[in-house]
Order: sequence, then C-alpha cells, then structure tokens
Amino acid sequence: MPESYEEFRSWSPRQRSGILRGPDGRLRALLYAQQFDRALLEQLVALAERIRSAEPEGAFRAALSRALRGRAAALYFQQPSTRTFVSFSLAAQGIGMVTEEIRSPERASLVKGETTLDTLLTLAELSDCVILRHDDPEAIERFAWEIHDRGLPTRLVNAGSGADQHPTQALLDIATLISRFDLSRTDPPLTVGIVGDLRRARTARSLSYLLALYPTVRQVFIAPPDLAMGRDLVTALEERGVTLVETTEFDAVIEELDAVYLTRMQDEYGETSETVRALFGNYRLSSERAARLRPHACVLHPLPRREELPIELDRDPRTRHWEAVHRGRFLRMALLLHMFGKDTTDLS
Ligand code: ASP
Ligand code: CP
Repeated sequence: MPESYEEFRSWSPRQRSGILRGPDGRLRALLYAQQFDRALLEQLVALAERIRSAEPEGAFRAALSRALRGRAAALYFQQPSTRTFVSFSLAAQGIGMVTEEIRSPERASLVKGETTLDTLLTLAELSDCVILRHDDPEAIERFAWEIHDRGLPTRLVNAGSGADQHPTQALLDIATLISRFDLSRTDPPLTVGIVGDLRRARTARSLSYLLALYPTVRQVFIAPPDLAMGRDLVTALEERGVTLVETTEFDAVIEELDAVYLTRMQDEYGETSETVRALFGNYRLSSERAARLRPHACVLHPLPRREELPIELDRDPRTRHWEAVHRGRFLRMALLLHMFGKDTTDLS
C-alpha cells in the first residue's frame, strides 16, 4: 500500500487500481479505463442492455427506480459538457439517487480562495458519490488518494480528466462496437481505426485501453505527426501484445477498417499551429472517404463534432454515434449500480 500521495502517484494506473476498489472487489473510484477487466466490462454492457430494453412500466424498471434511493450524487463539472453531464444526472436519478451540481465554478466558493481539493472534500462529506470532470488530471487522482487515505465511503467517477481519460465515454463506445461485432474474432481480426487528435483526445485514449482487453483487435492510430497518440499508451499496448499500426495517411488504410472512431481537435489544451490546423482537414470522414468505407463498417464519434463527421452522414446506417449517445444513460446506470453493489440479485 502506498503511504503518501507522492508514492501513490509514482505507481502505474494498474498498480493504483487496488486501492480504488472496495473490500468487496467492486470499483469505488473509477479513474482509468485500465481498471476494467473483460468480465466487468461485459457484465456492465449486459446490464445496461437489460435496462435499455426493459419495459418502461415493468417491474424491473420499478425496482431500478428504487435501487439507490436515499443516496446522493454530486456532479462537479469544471469543464463544459452536454452529454456526460445530462446522462450521468439522469442515470443517477433513474436509479433513485438525488443529484446536486456545481457547473459554474465561478459561483462556488473557489472564488473565495477555496482549493479544488477542499471543494471536492466538501462534496464527499455531503454526498455518496462524486462525478468529476476537470481539466487537470491530477485533480481526480489527488481526490481519490484523499478518499482512500481518510477512509471515506464516497464513490468517485471520472467524467473526463483533462487530456488523459474519459472512461465512461469509452464504455458506451465499446458497447456500441460489441453490439455490432465479435471483438474476439481472429479470422480476420477486427480492425478499428482511431482518428484525429490522438495526443489530446481523452476518449480515444480510454477507448484504446478498453479495446486492448481484446488483444486480437487490430488498432490503427491515424493522426497528423504533431497529434500522434502518447508514447505511454503505445508502450502499454505493445507490452500487452496488441497489434498496433500508426499512420498519418487516412486514405491509405480506410478500406481496411471495420470501425472508425473520429475525434475533434482538442484545442482547449493549448496552441495548435496553423499548419496542424490545415492538416487536420485530412482526418475527416468526407463523403468521398465514406464511399470507400466497407459496407458493414461502424462509424463512431464521442461528440461534440466539428467538420470531421458531416451531419449528412447521420443518415448513413454505418454511423452509430447517436446510438452511442443513447446508450450513455444506461451504461452509467449500470456502472453506478455496480459501484454500490446493487447490480445483482436485488434487481431480479
Ligand atoms: N466530449 C468528449 C470529451 O469531453 C469529446 C470532446 O469533447 O471532443 O472528451
Ligand atoms: N462525449 C462527451 O463527453 O460529451 P460532452 O463533452 O458533451 O459531455
């Protein structure tokens, strides 16, 4: 066990995952996609699907709506959000939790000089679960350490940690892929292209880690040189024996792809040169590129989109980004139920 935050920080995310679980082995704090194993991932996907397909007026939905009654979730979103905020809020309410939020830090006591950590500790005292989006990945790591070190019962979920991770977005993206393909197939292996600003797209990083749970999936990273995927992730995937291809040429690989995951330029994380901006136009799914994409392919985008996925393609049955948005509420319900130990017999 680490004895200080500094020691905790020196550990790899996989090593840290031990103290992010409760004594029952369940996730207590979800910070990184690497905390999932295949069994848990598939269990959550199955539960989310069961919730999604349940009769709105049926007994299962009624049991769900009471599952976490009496519990409270506090959502602290220091960065903008549409989907993640609304779907977490509706997910928590849909399983009986009450929710409260800080979405405008300028109206919180931070402006009086309170630290982010004290703000978060306040939410931990007042609620049972904190759902956090923050531009500094260290904010959630420090808070997770404090929860552990102080022995607090509060659950914690990462709803986006700077340019590092967004594990629940990756859950709904991989769930959409699982609904379309056998990810374990070997002949031929499934090929997933991840395209765009891979250096800074946290959703791409988290998805890549989840895909690595299926080592036969071939991952193809397609990005301009300045926005290539971080070496930390590439090394981790190589160590796990994942087949990985890196290219700058979308056109050279488009016909090989079974799935395409597009990302927007993450320009909130620093200057992006005019040269890179101009190059980024090569990483969009133009109608010419869509015409070359395989007939059975699946196209995803975490949204919000810019020009990388033109709205005209929404009518192309290969695009599944709206379906993924729809899945978000149910996967987040499944995750919260798991974290509070309510995902099994109580609901049957
Ligand atoms: N909404 C996703 C995120 O918060 C993707 C994006 O903003 O481009 O990471
Ligand atoms: N996909 C996603 O995280 O969307 P928001 O930023 O709107 O929450």
